[in-house]
Amino acid sequence: MTDGVGPGGSVALIGAGNMGIALLEGWASQNLIGPVSVIEPQPSQRLQSLCAERGYALNGDAARRDAVVLAVKPQALESGAAAAAPFIGPATVVVSILAGKRIADIAAHAPAQAVVRAMPNTPAAIGRGITGAFASSATSAAQRGLADALLRAVGAVEWVDDESLIDAVTAVSGSGPAYVFYFAECLAAAGAEAGLPAALASRLARATVEGAGELMRRQSQTSPGELRRRVTSPGGTTAAALEVLQAPDGLAPLMLRAVAAAKRRAEELSG
Ligand SMILES: NC(=O)c1ccc[n+]([C@@H]2O[C@H](COP(=O)([O-])OP(=O)(O)OC[C@H]3O[C@@H](n4cnc5c(N)ncnc54)[C@H](OP(=O)(O)O)[C@@H]3O)[C@@H](O)[C@H]2O)c1
Repeated sequence: MTDGVGPGGSVALIGAGNMGIALLEGWASQNLIGPVSVIEPQPSQRLQSLCAERGYALNGDAARRDAVVLAVKPQALESGAAAAAPFIGPATVVVSILAGKRIADIAAHAPAQAVVRAMPNTPAAIGRGITGAFASSATSAAQRGLADALLRAVGAVEWVDDESLIDAVTAVSGSGPAYVFYFAECLAAAGAEAGLPAALASRLARATVEGAGELMRRQSQTSPGELRRRVTSPGGTTAAALEVLQAPDGLAPLMLRAVAAAKRRAEELSG
């Protein structure tokens, strides 16, 4: 193990599928960490090249690491934890991104005191994710700092102080990208209904969601509500549409029900 944890600590990644490789690429691009071990039963060409370029040990060594990141599918927790065991020592923090697996589930399979449960989302693949994270009480400030740096390599990180809030995080940001994609689909369908050729409606809707998202990012000091008000002239076209969206049976209660359903399902999956 390296002296003291924090950026520069040693890491083992267990499972390098979609999310695992996104993390690995984030660490590599930021020169974030010390020695890296990767365990992946079916390494892709991309993974093999990255490991070769960076000198990461792929399916090789088994030295104790400062952090072990579990990125297998939730149903592979048992085999993933078995693969992780040789890397775990008394001072190792285990960072799990497994949806629906609680700290207690992880600790029951992986022999670690310090466990961080994290919920990233798919824009992590382009370094623009947002992750909600919770640390077990046995996690030291330095271990939490290392976990934070590892997760931050693919986007922002928000820490919660109650594990049950991870289900709400899952319902908002974990599942959220799909809501936005669906919004773009619905906008495109409505555009086609309004007379536009379907392909054009689709391009307009897509570019609108992309552009509005980027604008919101660049004007991060301004709330979404304020950005909306700035583009809504009284009596204008946007106001006419917002009147429908803001009706008592409009988007707000629909979103409330959608997020509540996702949260309920996350609670069921966490047992
Ligand atoms: N994708 C997301 O948006 C997202 C968001 C939040 C959380 N997550 C969580 O992230 C985790 C990974 O998701 P993913 O989409 O990256 O899944 P994935 O693409 O299936 O990646 C998981 C990888 O782990 C490998 N694996 C299976 N058993 C293993 C073992 N015993 N040791 C080492 N590696 C093993 C799998 O190999 P095989 O294919 O050979 O089984 C696969 O390559 C999931 O638990 C998911 O809940 C994902």
